[in-house]
Amino acid sequence: MAVPASELLEKIRQQFDSAPYPRVSLDSNPQDFPNLLYIHNLVTAYYLRNQKVIDTKGKVILDAGCGSGWKSLLLAEANPGAKIIGIDLSEESVKLARQRLEFHGFDNAEFHILGIDDLLKYDWEFDYINCDELLYLFNDIGKALQVMKMVLKPEGIIRSNLHSSIQRFNYFRAQKVFKMMGLMDGNPEDLEMGIVVEIMNALKDKVNLKALTWNSNYEGEDGKQRILMNYLFQGDKGYTITDMFNGFRTANLEFISMVNWKEWNLTNLFKEPDNLPAFIGISLPESSIEEQLQLFELMHPVHRLLDFWCGHPNQGQSFVPVQEWSDADWEKVKVHLHPQLKTSDVREELIACIREIRPFVISEHLPIIEESVSIDSSMAFCLVSLLDEAQSMLSLVERWKQIRPLDPVTLEATDEEQAFYLLQQMFLRLESLGYVMLEA
Ligand SMILES: C[S@@+](CC[C@H](N)C(=O)[O-])C[C@H]1O[C@@H](n2cnc3c(N)ncnc32)[C@H](O)[C@@H]1O
Repeated sequence: MAVPASELLEKIRQQFDSAPYPRVSLDSNPQDFPNLLYIHNLVTAYYLRNQKVIDTKGKVILDAGCGSGWKSLLLAEANPGAKIIGIDLSEESVKLARQRLEFHGFDNAEFHILGIDDLLKYDWEFDYINCDELLYLFNDIGKALQVMKMVLKPEGIIRSNLHSSIQRFNYFRAQKVFKMMGLMDGNPEDLEMGIVVEIMNALKDKVNLKALTWNSNYEGEDGKQRILMNYLFQGDKGYTITDMFNGFRTANLEFISMVNWKEWNLTNLFKEPDNLPAFIGISLPESSIEEQLQLFELMHPVHRLLDFWCGHPNQGQSFVPVQEWSDADWEKVKVHLHPQLKTSDVREELIACIREIRPFVISEHLPIIEESVSIDSSMAFCLVSLLDEAQSMLSLVERWKQIRPLDPVTLEATDEEQAFYLLQQMFLRLESLGYVMLEA
């Protein structure tokens, strides 16, 4: 029999009151996690949707289900000048979140003990809503999204995620086992966590559930939160891509993008993405984003989270994709470096690479993709000026000609067209990876 919604909510509240999530120490520095800052930066999502760069100053951001405030801190750090409002059912979590933001010197943040359903009691309106690791706890995700939509500004963006029922299948089996044993009847604490460890350790290593879910990371004090969040997680549920899109349909929201969009590329699952089997090559361009993501999920369910951005329908600005731009479009373009790359470390390393004539490995500073991405030192020279402000293509071409006045082979004066083409190729690549933004 299904647990009544109010009883389940109370169980969830108790779980996070006794073990606020995540257990990240108060002094953990967000600057050490550039890829998390990148995801939490409103600029990233806004550009994907509108091909425009937004100023985060004065924006109002909701961290819905803020837990111990680690993500609220990332939001505050990644979005200079924005106000952060965090809400959570659990009083203990809210206390920690408040303490965390104070500790790091952010005074433009407030936290409240509230549930998502309480949001409508206030006249708040948000530019961005972060609802991380929470939506999957709701019985009706469409309804929860609907509530968030009601407090979202017309141009606003929601980031949320669901647990994948396919990727996480074995943990759901494990949760069922421990539910049957009664370990989740009340609030699972040290006693229940100890029983999980004892049972899993006592099973033969080749027992399927153990082989597929258990490892030494679950042992000791550090393993406790992992046990709670995987084996004894009250209200945890799994969803598919279809469920996710059904949620958008119920709430009348528009899908914008997966958060880790580069890792959901169907063609990358093939040995030769440029030489796909004919059937796939022909049908893929005809299929919807939903179908493509669904195929990816069925073929390669490696992502624990179906992590997405969405917004009000028809509020995105229409634009021509960069790959389809004409030369005239390129001449008008303004090139921006992603704000998460505008750091003193990047500046120092860029200058060292230019002086020592060695490649600048941009992916080391912002590891948002698995492979290494580097830029040759003369191109790096152009990036330095982007640290201070956006530049036109024409001024970047001029800059490049300063460092490469002569063609290194013919020793003739650098050809303007050739310079333009080389920079265009570099920016096309960096844009597709999410390192630069190109505003027409
Ligand atoms: C897994 S934690 C995620 C915390 C944080 N968002 C993060 O990703 O680090 C889920 C949080 O959502 C809170 N929560 C659960 N149901 C909620 C609801 N209906 N309204 C507000 N908060 C809720 C819990 O108390 C808990 O702190």
